[in-house]
Amino acid sequence: MDINKKIAGEEAVNYIKDGMTIGLGSGSTVNWMLKKLANRVKNEGLNIKGIPTSIKTELLAKDLGIPLTNFTDVEQIDLAIDGADEVDNNLNLLKGGGGSLVREKIVDAMAKKLIIIIDESKLVTHLGAFPLPIEILPFGWNITAKHIANFGCEPILRKKEEDVFVSDNGNYILDCKFDRILHPKSLHENLKLLVGVVETGLFVGMTDKVITARNGEIVMIQH
Ligand code: 5RP
Repeated sequence: MDINKKIAGEEAVNYIKDGMTIGLGSGSTVNWMLKKLANRVKNEGLNIKGIPTSIKTELLAKDLGIPLTNFTDVEQIDLAIDGADEVDNNLNLLKGGGGSLVREKIVDAMAKKLIIIIDESKLVTHLGAFPLPIEILPFGWNITAKHIANFGCEPILRKKEEDVFVSDNGNYILDCKFDRILHPKSLHENLKLLVGVVETGLFVGMTDKVITARNGEIVMIQH
């Protein structure tokens, strides 16, 4: 267990107030947040509704007794709390290691505030050491991969054991290793122009606050 993930995840729950609609991110750090949130719901009667960013998060939230809602019933999210695979100096994110980037981006973009919870190893000067996940349509995936490779990366089709990994949305994911991503905004915008690309794991200019922990102590980063 990474104690710093637990500390960061649990700290984020202090920002959740009665009556809020909360975007529930995905990943192991978020799972700590969900467990603490469930305690507050059960023991303090905290009245919140969550919108999950993945089927895994939805199942865990249901299991823990966290009330859920959806975009038919709400049009605004007060606060989203999500994890990340990398966070750069400008608080831009690289996400999608868990394969949930599309739903995460929809939920995180809808939120009035976005808090990112990470262990300190995710802090980087430039994004790109972690291969960039890009969700693509299965149809013609190898042609889309060739077009993406022209951006200077090596796209690898994500697998789950012997099979192709299929996202919650029925799509494929390419893990694309770049040298360094120096201009995440323009890279994201240009990749999105390709037919077959559903979404990239670059979350640019969305983060309000990062909560991490160092040697068991909470560290906050915001600009
Ligand atoms: C999934 C993500 C997750 O937020 C990210 O992978 C979380 O990492 P961790 O398990 O270390 O909290 O982007 O698509």
